[in-house]
Amino acid sequence: MIVASIKAATTAEAAAKLKRAKELGVQIAEVRVDFIRDLDLETLLRDKPLPVIIANRPKWEGGAYEGDESTRIMILEEAGKLGAEYIDLEFKAYKDLQDCPAKKIVSYHDFNGTPANIEWIAAKIDALNPAVAKIACVAMSTADLLALVSAGRRIHTLKTIVGMGEFGEPLRVLYGKLGYFITYAALDEPTAPGQPSFEELRELYRADSVDDSWTALAVVGNPVAHSKGPRLWNPILSLGVYARIPVDDVAHLRALMEAFDLRGASVTVPHKEAVIPLLDEVDPVARKIGAVNTIVRDGGRLYGYNTDWLGALAAIKELLARPLFGVKALVFGAGGTARAAVHALVNAGADVFVWNRTFEKAEALTQALGGTPVREPLRDAGLIINTTSVGMNSDESIVPQECLHSGAVCFDVVYSPRETRFLRDARERGSKVITGDRMFINQAIEQWRYFFREDPPKEAFNSAWTKIF
Ligand code: ATR
Repeated sequence: MIVASIKAATTAEAAAKLKRAKELGVQIAEVRVDFIRDLDLETLLRDKPLPVIIANRPKWEGGAYEGDESTRIMILEEAGKLGAEYIDLEFKAYKDLQDCPAKKIVSYHDFNGTPANIEWIAAKIDALNPAVAKIACVAMSTADLLALVSAGRRIHTLKTIVGMGEFGEPLRVLYGKLGYFITYAALDEPTAPGQPSFEELRELYRADSVDDSWTALAVVGNPVAHSKGPRLWNPILSLGVYARIPVDDVAHLRALMEAFDLRGASVTVPHKEAVIPLLDEVDPVARKIGAVNTIVRDGGRLYGYNTDWLGALAAIKELLARPLFGVKALVFGAGGTARAAVHALVNAGADVFVWNRTFEKAEALTQALGGTPVREPLRDAGLIINTTSVGMNSDESIVPQECLHSGAVCFDVVYSPRETRFLRDARERGSKVITGDRMFINQAIEQWRYFFREDPPKEAFNSAWTKIF
């Protein structure tokens, strides 16, 4: 269940938000009464339209309640007596409220990070045998995220382990995969760092339906907050969910994939190269390119592939009217994406030239993959590709104006913005252009083949794409 967390300054506002929550299809709401200035529990709970959790979070646990402790607990007790289905009791101030009929959530919060003894804390909460055990810590790193998953394993009652902040998001989205009872979402204003909206969790991730039988996939990289992967994949997957997992240290990748039972991962910057030594098997083409953007987990083994080169090739073929054989292609950049593009072009028989800010890298790339490094960009290329990040969210182009002409097809791998400065210049010169989103979409389509060992639903991908780009 997704708990919609409600923050309101007055009782009337909280009551109105409960009503709205009900209309939105929320099954259970948490009311943070510590934010309510004129708290009237009787009014709030008398005609409540849905089950509620009442939390009265004190300052010392990251909340807003500043009064004395016995009154704080009395408020919770009273809420239980007035019909709140659950009350939230802080582990640090646990009281065995025998006379209170509400079910007890025993919770532990840490807004500064995930403490080293989190498993011990989990075991202590478990020993109290509450109706629901809750741990919510800010995950500052991938290691914290994994520590929270381990802490969850120490609890045998109904539970929720919340990772606050960007590194904790996988726990919020994939809580059902881990068998947790509830997850928290914001009805409107978030009540914790990184808390997603109820709509995002329900509509995009279908988090309330995910269980351990669902297939989980994720984009892994750092950062991944901007990734369009979830918006592309989730509408297409049936009984599958695609999450974002920020990974600050690639060494954790295997443990992460195990912890969340991921069938596969899309690898993004900066791990495409570093991930290679950690895999059990690497496809020869990915090894040659020197980058893996697709990992499949099967029988405890990790397999690496590269679909960027296929994505680049498909994007070019969508627009280029003639075969690539013999086409003079000029590639800007010599990083991982350039290597994928050059492999695709050389493989298709194009005459490839590589220009890079650091000439030696262009030399090394062409020695490994074919093509010719150039110190001056050619002016008569039939295909021009930018593989660098120049132009991403900035009005710059790496391609000199002199290289542009009406006979050229121009392709930018950057997709944010969709029309980069390079492509705008190219269009103005009468060139045909290929936008980076076409490569993004096509590399994802090819990932499907590896994740599911079946033909990808291209139309579904393209229809999801029209809603994103
Ligand atoms: P990716 O995996 O996305 O290809 P990468 O391996 O870090 O990323 O490679 C980035 C490429 O973009 C490199 O070719 C880099 O040039 P250098 O080899 O000289 O570093 C190029 N690049 C990035 N920013 C650039 C800039 N501002 N101007 C020119 N080239 C740039």
